[in-house]
Order: sequence, then C-alpha cells, then structure tokens
Amino acid sequence: SDRYAVFGNPVSHSRSPDIHHAFAAQRGEDLVYERIEAPVDGFPAAVAAFFDAGGRGANVTVPFKEQAFDLCERLTERARQAGAVNTLWRVDGALHGDNTDGAGLVADLRGNQGWALAGRRVLVLGAGGAVRGVLGPLLAQGPAEVVIANRTLGRAEALVERFAGQGVPMHAAALDQLQQPFDVLINAISAGLHGDMPALDPALVAPGSVAYDMVYGAQPTPFMRWAQRHEVAAVCDGLGMLVEQAAEAFQVWRGWRPDTAPVLAGLRGA
Ligand code: ATR
Repeated sequence: SDRYAVFGNPVSHSRSPDIHHAFAAQRGEDLVYERIEAPVDGFPAAVAAFFDAGGRGANVTVPFKEQAFDLCERLTERARQAGAVNTLWRVDGALHGDNTDGAGLVADLRGNQGWALAGRRVLVLGAGGAVRGVLGPLLAQGPAEVVIANRTLGRAEALVERFAGQGVPMHAAALDQLQQPFDVLINAISAGLHGDMPALDPALVAPGSVAYDMVYGAQPTPFMRWAQRHEVAAVCDGLGMLVEQAAEAFQVWRGWRPDTAPVLAGLRGA
C-alpha cells in the first residue's frame, strides 16, 4: 500500500493519520499513514530516508515547516508566499513542497462556518509562522482590511511589509493599541494553547463579530472563552482547519478531494 507520514517533534498527538485513513476509506483506497518523530536536528535525513524507502507523500508540522521549505527543489506559489511547507512529495527524485494551511483555514471559515471574508474587516492576533502560513490565501478572499496585532510590533510590521501589494489595506498594531471592533477575529497567538492568553480589549468585538482560534483542543481555548464572554455572533476552534488542510494535501497527492464533513463530525464526536 502507498505510504504517507507526518513529520513533527513532538508528533504523538497528531490526528493526521486518522484523518487521512478516513479520507482513503471514502473510495476504498489502500494507504498507510504514520507519525514520524524526527530528531530536532535530523529532519532532512528523516525525510530523505522516508522517500528513499518509497514514501509517496508527507505532511510536516512543528517545528519543521521552515526546514521543509528550505529542502524543496520545487515550490507552489502559496508555499513560496508562506515561506513554509506542510506538504511534501517527490517527482523524479526532486522534492516538491506546498503549503495547504491557508487554503484549509479559508475552506473552514467559508465552507464550514459560512463566514464571508470578502469586504470584511479582519483582525489577526499573532505574527508568527502560523500567520505567515495563512495570510496569502486569506488576502486572496478580498477582505476590506487586515490588521495584524502582535505583542512584538516589529514582527507584525514585517508581515505587513511581506504581504503588501496584494490589493488589501494592511496595518500592524501592538496588542494593546486597538480599540475598534472587527468583523472577523482570527487568533494565532500560540500562548492560547497553554492558557496564558494576553488581555484583549472588549472593544475589539461587536455583536456581529465572529471569532476563530486556529488552535483546537478538547476544551474551548482561552481566546474562544474571551469571545464568548463578550457575546460575539459565533466562535469556532481550528479543528476544521486541520481537516481541510489535510484534504488539500490529500488532493495534491492523490488527485481527488475527499469529503471533509463526515471526517470532521467523526473527530468532534470522538
Ligand atoms: P507559531 O508557529 O504558532 O506562529 P511562533 O512563530 O513562535 O509560533 O509565533 C507565536 C506567536 O504567539 C507570536 O505572535 C507571539 O508573539 P511575539 O511575536 O510577540 O513573540 C505570540 N505569543 C506567544 N506567547 C505569547 C504571550 N504570552 N503573549 C502574547 N503573545 C504571545
């Protein structure tokens, strides 16, 4: 059977094998998708060994997405924009890389949640690798404005500079600097995982606002609880993004797009 894997460190918590096995089962296709914990200093060797042994494709997660980008001989435009790669495959011995995170985020926001981005004022919280990975596809939706707010203002400014010139007004801000409400808030502050989310001004949301956390967990994240307390119209975690980015990768590898809804429902039910 065709072999796939996700490389990360740590990687034991990854849901990707379950997701890809469920996708393959939709057409009775036979594949094996495993977790590979590469040593922090041994990612290139681990990837080479996997493909040399006949591996068909790999996903890449923390902390290897930038290294994966550096390793690739061919990149998709969205991977180039992201400066990071989460999907690898080989063609005639050459390593190819794509980044499906932004497409996954947009598919979840638009397709699953029914939240439009076109013409909306969007606030992105955080300015790390996760944000750089999704900004291209987000901007392509045609929001009225994107503000990137971050603890370290310089990182937000660097992202605004990197993604300027795509026809969308962008601004950088410090986290405690903003006081006007946004239509769509997207959190990518990784502290959200561990519960030490920085204080946010309640003026950032109005009753029609929607709030999305790119992180997911068994419980609502601190950012989601903050948004719920301030009575936004809808709140969502990033589990759907995980499934949608996986579907994009699956399509790159195997040429057909799986049905994500039953897989997402299965994960939510589990
Ligand atoms: P990721 O891949 O998750 O984006 P990252 O590149 O390390 O990881 O970025 C982490 C993001 O979370 C950054 O925006 C970081 O803010 P700084 O750029 O100021 O470091 C943000 N972050 C992490 N811990 C934080 C905290 N305790 N308070 C505010 N922001 C935090």
